[in-house]
Parts: sequence; structure tokens; C-alpha cells
Amino acid sequence: MSVWDADPALGRVVLSVEQISKRVAELGAAIEADYAGRPPLLVGVLKGAFVFLADLARAIHLPLELDFMAVSSYGAATQTSGVVRILKDLDIDLAGRHVIIIEDILDSGLTISYLRRSLLARGPESLAVCSLLVKASPQPYPDLEVAYVGFEIEPEFVVGYGLDFAERYRNLPDIRVYLPGAPE
Ligand code: IMP
Ligand code: MG
Repeated sequence: MSVWDADPALGRVVLSVEQISKRVAELGAAIEADYAGRPPLLVGVLKGAFVFLADLARAIHLPLELDFMAVSSYGAATQTSGVVRILKDLDIDLAGRHVIIIEDILDSGLTISYLRRSLLARGPESLAVCSLLVKASPQPYPDLEVAYVGFEIEPEFVVGYGLDFAERYRNLPDIRVYLPGAPE
């Protein structure tokens, strides 16, 4: 039994290591085909996307560029605060570049919607969004185009593969339900 299996705050496995790696390879192949001849700049949204981005970037066999942004919308709660703050901005100029925002999960869509507007204003040649997970939501953001989606999941709070609860579980190799209120 692993340390993760013994943790009472972790519920069922939503996506296994095998499911994730197969899907990431498919996403990489799709991006590689779409961006042949115009290598993209992948913009990873820290911190949650760091594991996904590391695997995805190596599944795209193009001379791509990488940069990172850090935003915060949640603090240590499992509900959105409705406020997006840029904690770390990009180093690379977006003018003339084919930008793909790489996110871990889209819940209300607020974070991606804000980032899209903010990056579009900087004059990229093109801008697309890739999110590993999308939560099935009763009210999806109407104007939100997500070109690449890994998995649609139920509207439960999940952790692992980069996703945290209060900075924990990012190094869990698969994706599991987080059970609030479980004894520590
Ligand atoms: P949105 O702005 O509501 O779409 O939320 C997106 C951000 O909230 C993601 O980038 C995550 O950092 C965080 N988030 C949303 N749902 C979850 C979850 O189930 N587990 C961990 N983080 C989440
Ligand atoms: Mg995030």
C-alpha cells in the first residue's frame, strides 16, 4: 500500500497514470500536427500545470518555446474567490508568436477567460488554450474556446498530477478526488 492509498483525504482514482500518459501523448501529437511549420510558445500556468506541461512539451516534437505565468484565484479554499491575480508575468514578448496557454483544469473558466484577454492584448499571431481537465459545469463560460481538452470530469475537487489542495498532493502521480473534512 502506498502512502497515497493510506491517506484518508484521498478518494477514488479519477484518472490513472496510464490514462493520463496515453491522453497526453495524443494531445502532443495533435498539437504537433496543428503547429508544424509554426512552432508554438507554450505558456504554462503555474503552479498546477507544471507536471502536465513537462510531459506535454516532450510529446510535441517541434522546436517550441516555453514560458510561465503564475496566477492565483483560489487561496487555500476549494471554491473560486472570483479574483484572478497575476503573481508572475511572462518573460517572452508575444508579438508574432503562436501562443498556447497550458492549464491544469478549467472549472468556472474565470482564470482562462482572464488570461486569454490579457494575452490577446499583447498581439500574439495566434492564441489557443489547452487544458488537461475540464469540469462539467452547469454554466460554462459562453465565449471560451478550448482547442485542446484532455478529459472532462465530474464537478468534484481533484488533486494530483500538479493539482493541489493547499499546496499538497501536486506530486501524486495519478488524479484522485480530494475529500474535504476527512481526518488529518
Ligand atoms: P477556474 O478559474 O474556476 O476555471 O479555476 C481554475 C483554477 O482553479 C485552476 O487553474 C486550478 O488552479 C484551480 N482549481 C479548480 N478546480 C480545481 C480542483 O478540482 N483541484 C485543484 N485545483 C482546482
Ligand atoms: Mg491553476
